[in-house]
Amino acid sequence: MKILVVLAHPRTDSLTSNITERFTAGLSEAGHEYEIADLYAEGFNPLLFPQDEPDWDNPNKVYSNEVLREMNRIRASDALVFIFPVWWYSMPAILKGYFDRVWNNGFAYGTAKLPVQKIRWIALVGVTQAQFEKRSYHLMMQHHLNVGLAEYCGVQDSKVHFIYNTLAEFDDSLQDKNKNHFAALLNEAHKMGHTF
Ligand SMILES: Cc1cc2nc3c(=O)[nH]c(=O)nc-3n(C[C@H](O)[C@H](O)[C@H](O)COP(=O)(O)O)c2cc1C
Repeated sequence: MKILVVLAHPRTDSLTSNITERFTAGLSEAGHEYEIADLYAEGFNPLLFPQDEPDWDNPNKVYSNEVLREMNRIRASDALVFIFPVWWYSMPAILKGYFDRVWNNGFAYGTAKLPVQKIRWIALVGVTQAQFEKRSYHLMMQHHLNVGLAEYCGVQDSKVHFIYNTLAEFDDSLQDKNKNHFAALLNEAHKMGHTF
């Protein structure tokens, strides 16, 4: 498969970026092709200006060049993967703006459907699985991403994979435990790529 991996993190040395590296290594080993759209590094502008505002009466509206370029990247892909940290039980603003602008009327919904078969969401969660699920944040985010975004745009094969406890910092005396914890998270990402 040809996969577009959309990354939303301000730092290249972040866990999110490292997870992306391990995930894409797994993709390559499994024989997939991929391209990374690193929204921060590419300077993607998340603000929606009038040129990219949907015209409900015109599905053929010509959007901005930046949006047309991103649409073409999606057209050239079979699947999309979004990798991002959970910020306020949601996605970073730069990624929200990507959907506002790129998944636009006449391309992702309305007269057309998003032209991909499969979407995966890899969301890094600061707290533990038990803390996250205690208030059903996992269900809220799954509903938003799988139904509100993917299904609305015609993609049924959509799954969210949470990577939990990314802020875990065990006591300094437990350096091995720290190392093992983060190694396990990176292995989880590698396996996801390998079994994509
Ligand atoms: C603005 C902001 C909001 C955050 N909100 C949440 C949150 O709602 N729930 C949570 O579990 N972690 C939250 N976190 C923690 C991030 O999920 C965590 O920093 C990230 O997963 C760690 O990966 P990174 O090192 O690649 O940034 C937040 C962090 C920031 C900076």
